[in-house]
Amino acid sequence: MDRFLGIVLVAGLGCFVLAFVLSGLYPWMLNEGSAPEATLDELAEDVSVEFKDLKERWPEGFRQAYGAEEALNLQELVGVPEGDARRTASDAAWRTAYRKALQDGRDAYVGEGCWHCHSQYVRPVANEDTRFGPVSRWEQDNNALQRPVLWGTRRVGPDLTYEGTLRSNDWHAAHFWDPRVVSPGTVMPAYRWFFRDGFQVRRRIDPDIASRTGLDPQTSYPVPGVYDTRAEAEQAMARVAAETPENLAGERERLFIEEGRGLNDRGLSILAYIQWLGTWQPQPVEGGA
Ligand code: HEC
Repeated sequence: MDRFLGIVLVAGLGCFVLAFVLSGLYPWMLNEGSAPEATLDELAEDVSVEFKDLKERWPEGFRQAYGAEEALNLQELVGVPEGDARRTASDAAWRTAYRKALQDGRDAYVGEGCWHCHSQYVRPVANEDTRFGPVSRWEQDNNALQRPVLWGTRRVGPDLTYEGTLRSNDWHAAHFWDPRVVSPGTVMPAYRWFFRDGFQVRRRIDPDIASRTGLDPQTSYPVPGVYDTRAEAEQAMARVAAETPENLAGERERLFIEEGRGLNDRGLSILAYIQWLGTWQPQPVEGGA
């Protein structure tokens, strides 16, 4: 019996040492003699299309999460030439917002325990590369968002190394709200606290226009933007009505306000992070292999 307990003790300590080497020493060793670890600023250099799309889809949640800076308004830039100061200011504001989203999203990924079910490491065995993408290389972990490395502990869900841009923002939002809607039978839990409730402008489509455009006149369509109070939603409705062209006057009559729901700052950030995964590639090391 003593012998048995001894084996258990040694095996337990062995697992601890292995975990320490993999999660603690390995990332530290990565930096030896290689390119410096990529900083968050470098990772946020190229703001993704998917991140900009979050603002179009959930403008009010986006404003609450990343500020109401005028420079984030892409419509303002239509017709503004390359190199103009307004473009430079806009790029800088977007990078700041993206940087915050990536950091918050990564923290939320850790905090929510997503890594209990998802790995971020494609192994060179069992044809994993045909399922998930190219086998992971250590350079890919040499960045600020992989500290500590998020390899995960086991795989209940698929590996997420190359998840970015694979699916649309809408797909992910639906998946967070109710995973079984888009993936029947999945065991992934719902993340309802990634959403906020409020009021939203909706529009019924004129039957004539609906028949020409293939829309359904029996239903109504949401105008992006979920507001905390009904009064704010009413102001938004007035703006939408004012922007509706004269020849669509009937459409103005069909605007109304209903309770709505959109992603909150936690949901937006984690989505930005998920869409980033696999999109960053390390620079080749000079003189290196
Ligand atoms: C209990 C285990 C479990 C947890 C916890 C979990 N997931 Fe999942 N996840 C799954 C399973 C199983 C699937 C595959 C079926 C599906 O699409 O839901 C999946 C699928 C996904 C996908 C789609 C992958 C693809 O392209 O097919 C994403 C993205 C994802 N999860 C993100 C997350 C995030 C972010 C979290 C944490 C907020 C999380 N998951 C937490 C089990 C889990």
